[in-house]
Amino acid sequence: MIRIVLLGPPGSGKGTQASALEAKHGIPHIASGDLLRANVKENTALGQQAKPYMDRGELVPDELILDMMAARLSEPDAQQGYVLDGFPRTVAQAESLEQRLAKLDQGLDAVIYLAVPEDEILRRLSGRRTCPECHAVYHVDTMPPQKEGICDKCGAKLIQRDDEKPEVIRKRLEVYTEQTRPLLEFYRQRGLLEEVDGTIGVENVVREIEKIVAGSRAAVSE
Ligand code: AP5
Repeated sequence: MIRIVLLGPPGSGKGTQASALEAKHGIPHIASGDLLRANVKENTALGQQAKPYMDRGELVPDELILDMMAARLSEPDAQQGYVLDGFPRTVAQAESLEQRLAKLDQGLDAVIYLAVPEDEILRRLSGRRTCPECHAVYHVDTMPPQKEGICDKCGAKLIQRDDEKPEVIRKRLEVYTEQTRPLLEFYRQRGLLEEVDGTIGVENVVREIEKIVAGSRAAVSE
């Protein structure tokens, strides 16, 4: 059983790496952004409340996120571990996750920070294409689908996300620096933080993360 958090700025590759971990270890990839976008698409009460924040590139209020994540983490597939992508994103969310895990006598195995500079993030997000059905992620230059505009995995038509306009990307980066970056120190203090250079190509990042996962498993079984 492994419980991993992926941290990093928008576009650092959290979704890409979380999908690889899901495929390799059979643990669910739980992405707060995907859950929110599904709620927006289905026009639920949560989706209606969250959409204006997401459109502006701001964080959705903690109380909405905490209820949504508590429900998701209670589902049967999450009892055997998970990889979290986009959650926690504030110190309040990290504290809430820590309390939840403590109550269950559980802990995180690793918090992996994907370090990517801002100019690379802008390039990545402007070329990203996403599958609205199965959430697979592509890039028009570096990771194109086999057939232009079509998801390799499920055949759906790929889209550009609503929050990929340059001004919204800039706002998301600002919000990351102010509200999410402090989590690096939060997890460093707990001895959980591992940093990976997120610019070395998808497969190399996968390999670096696998070394960390292997190390954390070895530490648990010692
Ligand atoms: P969310 O969906 O979580 O977006 P994000 O964190 O901004 O991250 P992204 O999904 O944009 O990027 P990523 O790091 O997953 O990168 P990816 O793998 O796609 O959040 C959206 C919004 O929802 C927020 O703004 C907020 O409003 C709300 N929200 C969500 N969670 C919340 C929370 N907990 N609290 C409050 N609000 C919340 O990769 C990007 C591109 O780069 C792709 O094209 C990919 O192909 C390419 N790529 C990936 N890895 C590499 C590599 N190693 N080399 C080259 N290219 C690469």
